[in-house]
Amino acid sequence: MNSNDTFYIEQINKLRKEKNAVIMAHYYQIPQIQDIADFIGDSLALAQKAKQTDADIIVLCGVHFMGETAKIICPKKKVLIPDLNAGCSLADSCSAQDLKLFKQQNPEYKIISYVNTSAEVKALTDVCVTSSNALKIVQKFSDDEKLLFGPDFNLGNYINSITCKQMKLWNGACHVHSRFSVDELIKLKKQYPQAKVLAHPECKSVILKLADVVGSTQALLEYAKKSEELTFIVATESGILHKMQQECKDKNFIPVPPEATEMEVDGKLTPCSCNECEYMRMNTLEKLYKCLRDETNEIIVDEEIAAKAVSCIEKMLQMSVE
Ligand code: 13P
Ligand code: SF4
Repeated sequence: MNSNDTFYIEQINKLRKEKNAVIMAHYYQIPQIQDIADFIGDSLALAQKAKQTDADIIVLCGVHFMGETAKIICPKKKVLIPDLNAGCSLADSCSAQDLKLFKQQNPEYKIISYVNTSAEVKALTDVCVTSSNALKIVQKFSDDEKLLFGPDFNLGNYINSITCKQMKLWNGACHVHSRFSVDELIKLKKQYPQAKVLAHPECKSVILKLADVVGSTQALLEYAKKSEELTFIVATESGILHKMQQECKDKNFIPVPPEATEMEVDGKLTPCSCNECEYMRMNTLEKLYKCLRDETNEIIVDEEIAAKAVSCIEKMLQMSVE
């Protein structure tokens, strides 16, 4: 940790007490943010925690749709995000305009939307799901109901494959989860034959078929903690490895590399073997400190949209515990 980080952490600790603020972080945040968060969770846990908190300010260290979800659940609270430009390629793969058109042309369909969507898309949705509860919630619909599942094709396809559902699927994807290399995963499985493969359901079906466990970030972490295995090959955003390694000191976690990608180093494109979400990595300790200090980067959701979007989130929260 450098001296700047030490300064930001001291200031953040002071400010969060003075302002009655809570810092919530997703598992894909940089380690420095995970380590100072009051709460770390997957997207379902972050939404549940936002609903329960009595803090006046929520600093949501994640991406924009996560901040919007917290704001829609807690309209009276101030919700801040360290970088308002932290978007999500999956959420971007479904526009409200396109979904509205689908509904006009197919009024008989119930709309199930992954939480990785904009508030405008949620306002057009019957029930929201996350990777933790999607299977449970989809199974509550009767088999003769026509369902559209969006925007994540891979998660919807996975649920169809393990149930008798035949949901219509939106053709969206997360650019991080859909680029894991099958060849590299096969090589790792040969190299570590005893290892368990943990994969997030946003990965392509060919990766999921090679996995021993498919689950949300929280579910994968819980599995690693309880398992007697000592080696795990992990196919999700590599930020989760920080928590996995902290919680399981004697175990070995190996990230699956992506198909060849490049990153800019000193102005030159250089091959990159990591699989990180650049949106999640936009948040830094400095930005977190400044947004809390100045109460900037507030998430604002149009009141009319929020009033329509809240029911699909509340329905999800209720159905997750039923
Ligand atoms: P979780 O539901 O596991 O949090 O995953 C959602 C996601 O992709 C966050 O970017
Ligand atoms: Fe969106 Fe994928 Fe990044 Fe998650 S990892 S925030 S789904 S782009």
